Amino acid sequence: DPELIKAGEKVFRKCKACHKVGDSAKNGVGPMLNGIIDRPAATVDGFSYSGAMKKAGEEGVIWNAENLTAYLESPKGFVKGTKMSFAGLRKEKDVTAIIAYLSTFAE
Ligand code: HEM
Repeated sequence: DPELIKAGEKVFRKCKACHKVGDSAKNGVGPMLNGIIDRPAATVDGFSYSGAMKKAGEEGVIWNAENLTAYLESPKGFVKGTKMSFAGLRKEKDVTAIIAYLSTFAE
């Protein structure tokens, strides 16, 4: 749905200070997010994750829609100890839109 992707691009403004996507995306304050959908947590090359996020990955957390929704609505609620300093998205439609947007960036 192109409208949903467009809406997601707008919501992604809230993430951009820390996360990049697209051809020249690099890690910054946060890991670059190309290919993040359905990827195991804490597996982007060269990014220094918190112990909490590494543990989530080891325990099998995959960034599918369900887990991403829980994390983006409450980062510190879903991964206790994460170093992502982001209050969370309060609107479910923003989460749906951002997942649609991120899905357009493959590896
Ligand atoms: C981690 C998404 C906003 C900093 C992550 C991860 C995702 C994500 C999916 C897990 C990555 C992985 O496991 O490889 C988003 C989205 C945002 C957002 C969609 C906006 C809605 C932010 C902001 C910051 C930030 C504003 C900085 C102030 C980080 C950091 C991590 C992270 C430092 C690593 C966490 C850790 O190791 O515990 N983010 N993020 N993020 N994000 Fe964000």
